Amino acid sequence: MTSRANETAIGRWNASTTREAMETAAADGDFAKRHLVNSTLLRLLGDVRGRRLLDAGCGNGYFSRILAGHGAQVVGVEPTDVMCAFAREKEAELRQGMAYVQADLTRLPDLGAPFDAAVCSMVLMAIPDWKPAMRACVEAVRPGGPLVFALVHPAFEQLLGTWVEHGAYRVERYLEEYEIAGAAASDFHRPLSAYLNELASLGCRLRETAEPGLDPAVAAAARPTTPGIDSYVHLPNFLLFSAEAPA
Ligand SMILES: C[S@@+](CC[C@H](N)C(=O)[O-])C[C@H]1O[C@@H](n2cnc3c(N)ncnc32)[C@H](O)[C@@H]1O
Repeated sequence: MTSRANETAIGRWNASTTREAMETAAADGDFAKRHLVNSTLLRLLGDVRGRRLLDAGCGNGYFSRILAGHGAQVVGVEPTDVMCAFAREKEAELRQGMAYVQADLTRLPDLGAPFDAAVCSMVLMAIPDWKPAMRACVEAVRPGGPLVFALVHPAFEQLLGTWVEHGAYRVERYLEEYEIAGAAASDFHRPLSAYLNELASLGCRLRETAEPGLDPAVAAAARPTTPGIDSYVHLPNFLLFSAEAPA
């Protein structure tokens, strides 16, 4: 994998992201983020008030805005023209004091003093050459500072679709690395051990992993419109982990 592969992936995100999709997700993301990801990210980050935070691969900036709402000073990094422009537009409207830097995480410009913490949510599995991106997050944080990563869970990536098709989850290839072509951009499958071992090799201390499940009451309400939603009650579609940067 090369930086050219990363450029191709970024180009696909840029071409496939619509204004409508960004507006729909501008406040708190999509259904999964609202019900499974956001509250766990916030819990793992701890008290962010007054802290300088990096939102690495911030997309439309919704989570940066949530963090700013909790009193953090946020720098969002996003490589695509469309999402970076949207995030900057929202900042011009809301004036929460955020800065957005348009960059590939694997080729970061100088972002100033070390951050108190970094969050990298739903990003690493979108990057073909991902290890330099994880390293950039670790190096951006002050010694001992918290890092929080969220991923589509590598063991349950195609959860809803296979549950609907088979009435249970099925996975055929877990140990290999491969591209999962999406309608818009692709994800890149690699086993969970790849992420955790890279974190260890960067000298980080793993603090906690989380595999949130959907509240059965929320699933019941969504059942009429979303076949297969019960899979989210029984199996984790997302994996989050927090770690400490090396001291
Ligand atoms: C699934 S979206 C998640 C965005 C945001 N963190 C969120 O939770 O809404 C994946 C993001 O990764 C970004 N991305 C892809 N390759 C990247 C790279 N090399 N460096 C930084 N971000 C990248 C995409 O542009 C996109 O914004």
